[in-house]
Amino acid sequence: MTLAHETVAPPDGVVPPRFRPPAGSGDAAVLSLDGEWRFRLFPEAETGVDPADPGAGWDRLAVPGHWQLAGAPHAWPYGTPAYTNVVFPFPVDAPHVPHENPTGEYRTTLRLPADWPAGGRTLLRFEGVDSWFQVAVDGEVLATSHGSRLPTEVDVTAHLRPGEEHLLAVRVTQWSAFSYVEDQDQWWLSGIFRSVSLEHRPEGGLDDVRVHAAYDHTTGTGTLRVDAAAVGGAAGAVAARVAVPELGLDGAAGEELTAAVEPWSAERPRLYDVVVSTATETVTLAVGFRTVSVEDGVFLVNGRPVTLRGVNRHEFDPLRGRSLTPERMLEDVLLMKRHHVNAVRTSHYPPHPHFLDLCDRYGLYVVDENDLETHGFEVDGWVGNPTDDPAWTDVLVDRVTRMVRRDAHHPSVVLWSLGNEAGRGRNVAAMAQAVRDLDPTRPIHYEGDWSSEHVDVYSRMYAPTEEVALIGQGVEPPFERADADGRRRTLPFVLCEYAHAMGNGPGGLSDYDALFDRYPRLMGGFVWEWIDHGLTRTDDDGVEYAAYGGDFGEALHDGTFIADGLLLPDRTPSPGLTELAAVYAPVRIDPRDDGSLLVRNRYAFRDSGHAELRWTLHRGTEELAAGTLDLVLEPGTEAVVRPPADLPLPEPGTEPVWWTVRAVLTEPDALDEPWAAPGLELGAGQLLVVDRAPLAAPSGRVTTTDDGGFRAGPALLGPRGELRTLAGRAVHTFRVDAWRAATDNDRKPARWQEQADAETWYRAGLTLLGERVEAAEAGDDGALRVTSRVSGPAVRTGFDVRTRWQPVGDGADAVDLVVDARPVGPAPRSVARLGLLLALEEPRAADARVRWAGLGPEESYADSARAALGGAWEHPVADWQTRYTHPQENGARRGVTRAELTFADGSGLRIEAGQVEVAGRPRQGFELSLRPWSDRALDQAGHPHELVPDGRLWLHLDAAQHGVGSAACGPGVLPDAWLHAAPFRLRVRLTAV
Ligand code: GAL
Repeated sequence: MTLAHETVAPPDGVVPPRFRPPAGSGDAAVLSLDGEWRFRLFPEAETGVDPADPGAGWDRLAVPGHWQLAGAPHAWPYGTPAYTNVVFPFPVDAPHVPHENPTGEYRTTLRLPADWPAGGRTLLRFEGVDSWFQVAVDGEVLATSHGSRLPTEVDVTAHLRPGEEHLLAVRVTQWSAFSYVEDQDQWWLSGIFRSVSLEHRPEGGLDDVRVHAAYDHTTGTGTLRVDAAAVGGAAGAVAARVAVPELGLDGAAGEELTAAVEPWSAERPRLYDVVVSTATETVTLAVGFRTVSVEDGVFLVNGRPVTLRGVNRHEFDPLRGRSLTPERMLEDVLLMKRHHVNAVRTSHYPPHPHFLDLCDRYGLYVVDENDLETHGFEVDGWVGNPTDDPAWTDVLVDRVTRMVRRDAHHPSVVLWSLGNEAGRGRNVAAMAQAVRDLDPTRPIHYEGDWSSEHVDVYSRMYAPTEEVALIGQGVEPPFERADADGRRRTLPFVLCEYAHAMGNGPGGLSDYDALFDRYPRLMGGFVWEWIDHGLTRTDDDGVEYAAYGGDFGEALHDGTFIADGLLLPDRTPSPGLTELAAVYAPVRIDPRDDGSLLVRNRYAFRDSGHAELRWTLHRGTEELAAGTLDLVLEPGTEAVVRPPADLPLPEPGTEPVWWTVRAVLTEPDALDEPWAAPGLELGAGQLLVVDRAPLAAPSGRVTTTDDGGFRAGPALLGPRGELRTLAGRAVHTFRVDAWRAATDNDRKPARWQEQADAETWYRAGLTLLGERVEAAEAGDDGALRVTSRVSGPAVRTGFDVRTRWQPVGDGADAVDLVVDARPVGPAPRSVARLGLLLALEEPRAADARVRWAGLGPEESYADSARAALGGAWEHPVADWQTRYTHPQENGARRGVTRAELTFADGSGLRIEAGQVEVAGRPRQGFELSLRPWSDRALDQAGHPHELVPDGRLWLHLDAAQHGVGSAACGPGVLPDAWLHAAPFRLRVRLTAV
């Protein structure tokens, strides 16, 4: 038996697709139906409930929303969310889905107000319903639809009488044939999750408005043509007036109107009010004049090459799932703008239409993506893939048509995307043709078919930098089909996904960005992804946490892979977003080897006049001099700047002196944009101008203690040289360390690795390192020399360590510690860190404060370090941690030359860097991490709230740490950030304060 929700056919009984003007832009009557509806959940699609059943006594459910989240974060009355990435959570048996198919019956009362306009038609509009649904009014089934992230309209004119009450019944199934084409990497969440409304369509009104607004950069002329059409009942062109009061334009629909205009771009999102009117309806649209083109293999906006510095955005709210409020959408847009993101791919479906209104208004280039992903078929070699099945052609063409029709008037949309990870096949061609017929003005994107036969840009995801460099030069390895290969080489290249931002990372952003700057063929890329989809829930004690795959007891799930964003689920920017902002900076300021800074204006359309280049000469936070640089750069130009010749450089002191230049948005010239508060940093860079003074050689002498041990300044050691107390605090652990709590990236092998780094470290025993102290000997020079072997169980791999303790002077407050470690045994392919682990007994470790001079203020790693600048900062240990949704290594501060710890009781410990070397190569300072729990606890915790202070302060003083890379889904750590087992030396001065 073919069930309705398993019938592969476009929606039935619906109004043909048409444009979606912004809410409030027209004068036709609209009645929102959002609110509490009657609801009942049934275990299967054949609910047995009559559409005429009013649902008296049923539950109440908020529309819009997902039924699985109705009681979030405490209760789950209608089933729970489930997360799978690629695989279908049911047998692959298209178009069939399981009989167990949670199905919601929704009821609400329709009542047109008495003043609802007479005549014309009334449409019932759904902005998004997941997955398949059936609409009935007063018991009569009028339509069935699907396309979860696409609009559906049903003509209910004949069924509604003003002033009377009617029953609207909507049946929504969780699974349907269309689940096979909606296999996006996200939570499976169901229901009427976007708004529902009744819309009046006046007779002779503006059912569909098609805006063609181009910009000729050679003449500065904007060309506007607006086509107005009626759809449904009386299809055909409509005679309408088109006016742009600001430009003095007034003409007829279908007529070409021209005027000198300011173009629209993401940098200057200039919009003009275009008033379209007929005798019965007026709509005012915010129109941007702009032209997108591909010339000589380069992607152009308004005639200029534009680099898309983008992110992939899923719609996500930790309590509401994909049912976003306008406030959330605005928050996303403003956060993107403030972090110098200029493009967004609406992965992997058309977003709520209001999001595009915001992109028009605030300036973001959009890749608008069709609601299509069939990734689950890949598991079995794409057998049965709808993308290559003629039975699905109409469905897929319908989807892409609904997207283009809905969104074509948005200037922000610069590319249409046919879908994501849907493999290859005939329907790619069919969709591409449909899009070209509807809108020939925008290039078409689709990544799933690398031949790029049917698209206008060559797109890939996670291609490593070496390959991207080849593509940039047009010398990538040939494609198996010569005809396709030749054409593909003429196309610009975009990374529709790169730099997987899962957990700590992504590493390597700068490497990609440098390639985008270098090769015109590279039109940029979109980091995967914007936000962690962690759903808020409470544990048994009522503590809230962000849940990921498996946290709802799913039998089949993809765990933490859903937590791979630049924002934590509550929209706190992760260090990855701060890094992204520094890498994407429109005014890039980078040090050059000759002691100068290169300032580049990377805007395509605006000079840098709105950014003041402010410099400071500073030691830590102490400002020694300040000024501004008189420099305005034209778009795409650069200049070299140097510290003023008469700069009063101080003598070397305890902290280094930096010359830091920040491009800061200034008040008088501030962009007239709400995201751009004066003071916003548009780029920053610095030079180390005076290094700190080297530490003087220690001259004190170690003394012996009554129990045969040693005193070396503030350090008390046992007879074999084991450190027992430091600065009056008992020592729990003190030894060389080479391990870290695995990041999500460490847990997965990169393409060229046989083994994930975390696995390598485990096998090399680094997870369980221990120390055997061999001997301690006080020498004639006053120093205590300790030798030891640090290694893990079951292997010969480890380190031979020589430690030298010497009091700085005769007082008991300061000691110099020099550690020389040499790897022994078979070398693992990488190590997590090379440094010292010190755990001090400290009941209030989280309250200890630390002030440090080094790179900051946020964490940085060897391949994620563009945002970190030299200076001085202070934090309590509790704030030092980054609460990644899935706990893992975090919080390293690099280049630390001096750190002062103040414990809760007021006592403290100062740590100053002396010589630091890895494999004989000097490093500036050490890398510092501090936690109130151990790395092991961090490694084993599933969620941040499971981490509880253990009464100790755990410190890492590292000579170096392995990079973070992006191996969870992309390239691993690149060679320049790779850490091998190598001899290292670390000299630090420890002072009790
Ligand atoms: C891509 C896919 C995304 C996401 C990502 C991994 O292959 O297009 O939707 O799954 O991998 O997080």
